[in-house]
Amino acid sequence: MSRDTSALLRTPLTERLGCRYPIVQTAMGWVADANLVIATTRAGGFGFLAGATIAAERLEGEIQKVIAATGGSNFGLNFHMFQDNAAQCVDLAIQYRLKAVSYGRGPDKKTIARFKAAGVLCIPTVGALKHAVKAVELGADMLTIQGGEGGGHTGGVPTTILLPQVLDAVKVPVIAAGGYSTGRGLAAALAAGAAGIAMGTRFMMTTDSPTPPATLQRYVAVDDPQKIRVTLAVDGMRHRMIDNPFIRRLEAASPFGRLAIALKSAWHWKRQTGMSAGHMLGVLRRAIKEDPSTVSQTVMSANQPVLLQRSMVEGFPDEGILPSGQVAAAIGELQSCRQVIEGIAGEAEACLAALLARASDAAPDGGPGKPFVRWPEVVPASSSPNPIPLETAP
Ligand SMILES: Cc1cc2nc3c(=O)[nH]c(=O)nc-3n(C[C@H](O)[C@H](O)[C@H](O)COP(=O)(O)O)c2cc1C
Repeated sequence: MSRDTSALLRTPLTERLGCRYPIVQTAMGWVADANLVIATTRAGGFGFLAGATIAAERLEGEIQKVIAATGGSNFGLNFHMFQDNAAQCVDLAIQYRLKAVSYGRGPDKKTIARFKAAGVLCIPTVGALKHAVKAVELGADMLTIQGGEGGGHTGGVPTTILLPQVLDAVKVPVIAAGGYSTGRGLAAALAAGAAGIAMGTRFMMTTDSPTPPATLQRYVAVDDPQKIRVTLAVDGMRHRMIDNPFIRRLEAASPFGRLAIALKSAWHWKRQTGMSAGHMLGVLRRAIKEDPSTVSQTVMSANQPVLLQRSMVEGFPDEGILPSGQVAAAIGELQSCRQVIEGIAGEAEACLAALLARASDAAPDGGPGKPFVRWPEVVPASSSPNPIPLETAP
């Protein structure tokens, strides 16, 4: 029996965000630029610009670039309230009537009310049940939950535990993140009650990503999820990244050694961004005043942008950090955003259709009916159409 599967992927996410597929490209520092958001939007997903790492003087231009290329403001902006230009991010999201904003430690109720008045949806990312409840109390329109297997700063609760916990606790639509790269994953999330999935690592590992080939090569090469681990050594918070000599050196160093590494990379930071010695000294002075025992941590934290830039922008994967979800170990090739999105959508539809077929084949007396058939035995796998080998990636 042929079945219309087009409705299977219609969810509160596609309806409220106005995209074709329930697939979100999350914000990633130095990665989620206008081009990635444009490629995602054109392929039917929903993309977030990484407002925390786009220089203040370039931010409005990046927003305008996406609007010009996609013919609208159906995309989002990610920012953090602690970044210097947080007020600019808030104002620009409202001025351009962007469809959504995402954030971690979030804006207060007053700022959220401004977004709501302008029709900008608030979609914070949370890594724990209590943060989910709090975010909804503050006015979140939807939530992205990120399980601990997700990339970058991440919590300690796996997606399979966090998603049902949050679905039980809140009434707003919930988007599942942390560990997704396949249509099977999307089907599972939708079957559990999620409104869609959000992915960082999978979108970074595309031919539309600005990440340099030498660095992408590291992400493609890693094949053991355990080598994509959490460290506290960068800024004292749980940060998931690919194991490399730099973080091993940082972790092995004494507090004094860590300070030396921090100051050395802070010096690079100064040289590369033109940051003044006065600013560096200011960071150091504040750190000593606040808590002398954590001074190297504070300097590392202030210094994090250069550690990211070294690997993610300049293409020296051993001299910086490589934030990544464990799912990178399951991704063996780069594809375009379109291939990723259409492949995942097609596979999810086939999975869900197979489940529905099984339900309608069940015996009338409520018995088990036909034995379950894995969908690839019914429908040919479609997840990797025309994979683009890494060598040909830009
Ligand atoms: C390279 C990289 C950089 C990231 N940078 C940010 C960031 O700047 N802000 C943020 O909110 N999340 C950031 N994240 C987290 C992602 O937005 C997303 O929540 C996470 O990657 C989802 O898990 P996944 O990697 O398993 O798909 C980053 C993730 C990666 C892999």
